[in-house]
Amino acid sequence: MSGVDRETRLARGELPPVDRATIHVYSEAIPGPFYYQRNAHPVGAEAERLLGELDGGHALLFSSGSGATTAVILALLHPGATVAVADGGYFGTVGLLQGELARWGIETVVFDQTGEPPNADLVWLEPCANPMMSFPDLEASIAWAHASGAVVVVDNTVLSPILLRPLEHGADFVLHSATKILAGHHDALLGAVICARLEDHARLDAFRTASGIVAAPDPAWLMLRGIKTLALRVERQSASALELARRLAEHPAVHRVRYPGLTPDPVAERYVAAFGPLLSFDVADGDEAGRVEKALQLIGNATSLGGVASTLEARARWEPARVPPGLLRLSVGLEAVEDLWADLEQAFDGLGNG
Ligand SMILES: Cc1ncc(COP(=O)(O)O)c(C=O)c1O
Repeated sequence: MSGVDRETRLARGELPPVDRATIHVYSEAIPGPFYYQRNAHPVGAEAERLLGELDGGHALLFSSGSGATTAVILALLHPGATVAVADGGYFGTVGLLQGELARWGIETVVFDQTGEPPNADLVWLEPCANPMMSFPDLEASIAWAHASGAVVVVDNTVLSPILLRPLEHGADFVLHSATKILAGHHDALLGAVICARLEDHARLDAFRTASGIVAAPDPAWLMLRGIKTLALRVERQSASALELARRLAEHPAVHRVRYPGLTPDPVAERYVAAFGPLLSFDVADGDEAGRVEKALQLIGNATSLGGVASTLEARARWEPARVPPGLLRLSVGLEAVEDLWADLEQAFDGLGNG
């Protein structure tokens, strides 16, 4: 279906059957390397073809976003290598690097991604960083990293290829927790890496087969189905998130809203036209954050992001050393924005300062 819009292709493209077979008999009738599921499987191959098309590179699926991160670091680096990772981004990435992977000789430097990255072998950027929402000047950071010999990974989980295609800005790799907005319904755990270069794809593919950090057919299929509505979801979720960010910024219970689209941001606006489903805001302290969590009736007090159902949580539950105690992270779903606002307002009313 060439010659039609991306949305039309996504909506019309047929989904493959969920082939759960771990083996296929050796036969010329089965194209591709589908003789053992750990190496490759038909649903995964179709999902990778589509993701590669969306992000403009060569895609590989993994068992989770964290599995994809592990693969990138272990397959591409060596003991003694340094990773420069964006401050305020997904805490699990820093935790993995400074915890498990430090034991294998990986050094980690955390840096402010709104400035130049430090010297490293690999620079890890995260636009609309989860949960601190910083946004890097992608092309400047990538040029700086490349000049010092580093490769660049952009974790594009929050924005998705609908809003940002980092390979077009010079990134070497894009990473997604496809568990989030790509699958979109809080029912599939998987991750993806999209490589700019075929030789990196081959290296990661070999590592994935050897390590077995593979995505199973069912989550891959759920992601394929989720992607059919990705553009619509991202558009609606971004519009609702911006509207809620504006209202939150005016509310007396809210001390600070973190959403790049809220005030003019010339750097971020060079790269994206909308800012995705995720925002953070601060109430006075941990006690107030806990009371808001408990008072919500519509918005789920749950972790994760990017699903059709909105979720909110106090991030200090997971990363108390890194975030203010009153920081609440909200992932905006597809509910009517007035319903979401009414739920937040009634939760703030309980604080007595609304
Ligand atoms: C930005 C980001 N990257 C990576 C991950 C890890 O993904 P997963 O939970 O699929 O392992 C997450 C999970 O929350 C995330 O938010």
